[in-house]
Amino acid sequence: MRKPIIGGNWKMNKTARDAVQVVQDLRKRIGGVEGVEVVVFPPFTVLGPVEKVLKGTSIGLGAQNMYWETEGPYTGEISAPMLVDLGCRYVILGHSERRQYFGETDDGINRKIKSALTFGLTPVVCVGETLKQREEGSFKRIVESQLELCLKDIDSQGADRIVIAYEPVWAIGTGLTASPQHAEEMHSLVRKLLAKVFGKDLADSIRVQYGGSAKPENIGELMREPDIDGALVGGASLDASSFAKIVKYEE
Ligand code: PGA
Repeated sequence: MRKPIIGGNWKMNKTARDAVQVVQDLRKRIGGVEGVEVVVFPPFTVLGPVEKVLKGTSIGLGAQNMYWETEGPYTGEISAPMLVDLGCRYVILGHSERRQYFGETDDGINRKIKSALTFGLTPVVCVGETLKQREEGSFKRIVESQLELCLKDIDSQGADRIVIAYEPVWAIGTGLTASPQHAEEMHSLVRKLLAKVFGKDLADSIRVQYGGSAKPENIGELMREPDIDGALVGGASLDASSFAKIVKYEE
């Protein structure tokens, strides 16, 4: 019922020439892929060139962040309508690296989600606990509070477009992956929380991606879990061959 969604979060990597090469390669490998929604999230600076290569393929384009205001005196910021203008249909919001290094808060992420939805973008909202929170045993409470605050006062109309990425911070870029059982436990918790906010029907239609060292070797077992609807892939998305394998759930 829920179409799986695999995203490639390139983070702060690649200048135009490399970026274009990767998407040209991806286009050959998975340009017409069906049954799974595929999105790449390049840095702002190469959204334009990447869009040109992806045009006419089934691979979607997204940005890694945006500001909630539409326009005005906000030096260095990029707004939802600017992303739409560049051909983006998705935007990652509240990634743990933005929370950790750039002081993003749940309240700010909430405003960004509202603006993204207003302009027709699909927000990919990231939540997840740190290693310390995991060890202290507060991880469920943390994820619950992140979701509650990020989704506060969001109209259920259009909310089915939201994608949640559960990304345990201790698994991001570390090579450590949550076991499929642990990931499933957290994903089913996320879905219960979504049901509290939006009701069960809507919660059942919202995709929950897993993120944190997803790679060809573990995507198959993760995707077998009932509440895991795809992956947000960092490191392994920088290379077209490994990203294409993940999209096809191949080792
Ligand atoms: P990783 O990053 O796959 O390199 O762990 C995932 C993410 O940060 O979205």
